[in-house]
Amino acid sequence: MISQSTIDSVFETARVEEVIGDFVNLKRAGSNYKGLSPFSDERSPSFMVSPAKGIWKDFSSGKGGNSVAFLMEHSHFTYPEAIRYLAKKYNIEIEETEQTDAEKAMTDVRESMYLVSEFAAKYFQDVMVNTEEGKAIGLSYFKERGFTAESIKKFNLGYSPETWDALTKEALGKGYKLEFLESTGLTIAREDRPFDRFKGRVMFPIHSMSGRVLGFGGRILTNDKKAAKYLNSPESDIYHKSKVLYGIFQAKQSIAKQNNCYLVEGYTDVIQFNQAGIENVVASSGTALTPDQIRLINRLTKNITVLFDGDAAGLRASIRGIDLILEEGMNVRVCSFPDGEDPDSFARKNSHDALVAYLEENSKDFIQFKASILMNEAKNDPIKKADLIRDMVTSISKIPDRIQREVYIQECARIMDISEQVLVSTLAQLIQKDIAEANKKQKQEQKPFEVVRNQNPKYTGYSGGDPEDPRTGPPDDYPGEPGYMEGQAEKVDILYGFERKIIEILLLYGSVVESFEDVYLKADEEGNVKEVSEKRQYKVFEKVYLSLQEDEVELSNTLFQNIYTNIIDFYNHNEAFSLDKYLMHLQPEFAQEVTNILMEDEKVTIHNWEGQNIFPKHKNVTIEQNVSDTIFSMRWFLVSKIIHELKNSLISDPKEDNSELLSMVVDYSKLLNNFSKKLGRVVVPYHGG
Ligand code: CTP
Ligand code: MN
Repeated sequence: MISQSTIDSVFETARVEEVIGDFVNLKRAGSNYKGLSPFSDERSPSFMVSPAKGIWKDFSSGKGGNSVAFLMEHSHFTYPEAIRYLAKKYNIEIEETEQTDAEKAMTDVRESMYLVSEFAAKYFQDVMVNTEEGKAIGLSYFKERGFTAESIKKFNLGYSPETWDALTKEALGKGYKLEFLESTGLTIAREDRPFDRFKGRVMFPIHSMSGRVLGFGGRILTNDKKAAKYLNSPESDIYHKSKVLYGIFQAKQSIAKQNNCYLVEGYTDVIQFNQAGIENVVASSGTALTPDQIRLINRLTKNITVLFDGDAAGLRASIRGIDLILEEGMNVRVCSFPDGEDPDSFARKNSHDALVAYLEENSKDFIQFKASILMNEAKNDPIKKADLIRDMVTSISKIPDRIQREVYIQECARIMDISEQVLVSTLAQLIQKDIAEANKKQKQEQKPFEVVRNQNPKYTGYSGGDPEDPRTGPPDDYPGEPGYMEGQAEKVDILYGFERKIIEILLLYGSVVESFEDVYLKADEEGNVKEVSEKRQYKVFEKVYLSLQEDEVELSNTLFQNIYTNIIDFYNHNEAFSLDKYLMHLQPEFAQEVTNILMEDEKVTIHNWEGQNIFPKHKNVTIEQNVSDTIFSMRWFLVSKIIHELKNSLISDPKEDNSELLSMVVDYSKLLNNFSKKLGRVVVPYHGG
């Protein structure tokens, strides 16, 4: 495990704008940075980075968080992977802590496999550049193929010696366990004679998105037709062929920047393209593309250009991959190379400019592409032509976006010279069929009984959730008074607003010391009980906590309640609480809401709503007033809601003796009056942002 002090120094050093700047083109906007959201396709920027707060917010998708959250969201790192990535970026040494036995058992296996793979990659590299055999055989092979020293380094290429147990022996000598050499497939154990899988091959390490070595491809150097050209690591706990793309680690920044990813088949294609100055390229390693691999790219860009070798063999099969890409909602273009050429050979023969020009001129959208390769066969054969059209419409039906589907239908109609109407109705049939199939599948997966947890905290009926989502939003028959503000298109849940405000207060001024008015009852000499008030100093978080506790209020919105508990906990354990510190440790499940609250102002600037006073802000109110008002307003609201409910039950369930209920109504009404007096006005419901 990474030590807390390493994690802390990573957070202290990492600048959110620098971390994100590697993936998103950021422009200054006042004290913030603006950019195009990497999570959606957009033209005007709605992605905001606040260097001062150390957080980012994507207003198009609602996502947000700190640097680590960005890496987890954007590059799909795990938490430790993100920390390691940042440590590497900022040259921070990683200190590992002792683990409990249980933790060790959990992480050790995979970690040990990573470590031995890392070791092997280094060993192969070292052998290639520093030994006579390595230089004479491995290095000279790569040189012959035109690979530069720079490429060799960038892709950590290496050479596995001709000796049957060179790596195994070296690794065992260095203390690596045979168990992990075996489970990673580097070593094949035959009774007492373990031997190297990759003996005498040039080595291509396969990296994860975050740069860890997962496995290897090893190319044979002879032209032995009987032996496999490539040997690859077997599936293991760390290497899942279907979830890996060769070159993704080296390509990811460029993919994000270029907003396009070239997809090739082979290791050597990737390397040669890099050498030609095109870095946004990955390889499927000769197998059919999988949805997991497509999603890997989808995190970085919506656009894929599939590059096919010149030989038409396998081309038809690869076309299936296109539908998979369309299904993921991505845009796919296709480019094939002249007969007999693959991306590797073509890139080697041509200059950078010629290569770029070729790609530009020959990339077609999938409709044009299908038409161009299948048209020749189908030209004079109506049956084949019909098949081809059906094939195209099937592809189009996979596109989730309606407008895009329509555009492609138009194009297909034009190219195939057939009426749009026919295509549209065929498309509708196909989509219906897909939906029916999806429904059927969903039905099968549905469990017979689903337990819905009934949230019923003390004061509330509605437990929050997205007010616009019919499954989690407020019930339609929710009492209108004092519940929702109506009039606008959507209802605004007042309680939601109060609770959100509580979180905002805690985030912004939790540790500020303010003087608050304490009210308590005191008996005078004559025994009359009187209300006395006294000013006392509190930290804001203490005041909020004590008030809510006194009223036995739990926030009805589960997410808010969890954030609330988390913040209070954090304050209690950290004397010198600062917002930065809290944001450093911000849990991913809270990030969206917390950044929403903190970046409210930026949302206003994004939409250029300044001056229109759409979000009223209490800027010239003191912190003390702000806190007290919020607490009192919330109390007022909750109590009036109880009164409303009591009255309702008096009406709906008339009993002979309802004196108890009646006296409760009276008591609560008194309380309510009290609150109103304290607030010195009739409470105006908070306008949630
Ligand atoms: N491949 C494999 N096993 C094989 C052949 C191919 O795993 N026996 C995978 C490799 O990932 C290879 C890719 O399929 O990179 C594409 O195959 P191919 O085009 O034959 O290899 P190249 O990478 O082009 O290698 P070279 O140029 O050295 O022939
Ligand atoms: Mn090749």
